Amino acid sequence: MRTLLAGNWKMNGLHASLAEIRALIRSISERPAADIIICPPATLIAEAARTVRSAPIEIGGQDCHAESSGAFTGDISAEMLRDAGATAVIVGHSERRQCHGETNRIVAAKLTAASRAGLAPILCIGESEAQRDRGEAISAVRRQLSESMDAKFKPVELVVAYEPVWAIGTGRTPKPQEIVQMHEAVRAVLIERLGQEGAQIRILYGGSVKPDNAGEILSLPGVGGALIGGASLKAPDFLSILQAIPSR
Ligand code: PGA
Repeated sequence: MRTLLAGNWKMNGLHASLAEIRALIRSISERPAADIIICPPATLIAEAARTVRSAPIEIGGQDCHAESSGAFTGDISAEMLRDAGATAVIVGHSERRQCHGETNRIVAAKLTAASRAGLAPILCIGESEAQRDRGEAISAVRRQLSESMDAKFKPVELVVAYEPVWAIGTGRTPKPQEIVQMHEAVRAVLIERLGQEGAQIRILYGGSVKPDNAGEILSLPGVGGALIGGASLKAPDFLSILQAIPSR
């Protein structure tokens, strides 16, 4: 399985920020060490998609609505993202769960919508600090993952991103052993739910991945890549992470 690096720009990026994507394109080879997806804000998707047209980089959205169209002011459907040139979409990011009250049920509907529109969903899950302190991290993540997929969900091109909420944007990361354990637990749920297909799904780690810790994190067994927030905004940081990928 090829490593996947996904960059989540969150609510950052104006037109001028597309220069970072152009810088990335200039610096990577035709076959970089990882698959690359950049998720800029929705306002930049169409132009970002044109920018990467002949480069080995895909463009993704950061969220989608469960419906394909309708009276949902301010929302964007998976079909619209696809139409704008995206090929992937993040669903269930902890900031959406926290700031927009997205429940597992809502996330499950968005996951189904992403697949319906032909987008590769990047499903985010992760425990809170309180859950980890109570020794409930693994059970909380297992439950969240399970409930974030509908019974009939078909995992076409699904990617799962394990992002402990307390590690996002804080500079703190779990111990390597904790990352490995969680990735094993996530893999077990995926196989329970999806059978052999569950064994093929990439599981990313996310939360304060930086050039100086990427090499270690990406070499851990079971870690199929990274979802990168802050360090994806500047091309040199993102490139350093790409260069830190250990050869397997
Ligand atoms: P961070 O964000 O790399 O800035 O911690 C990760 C994410 O929220 O996806």
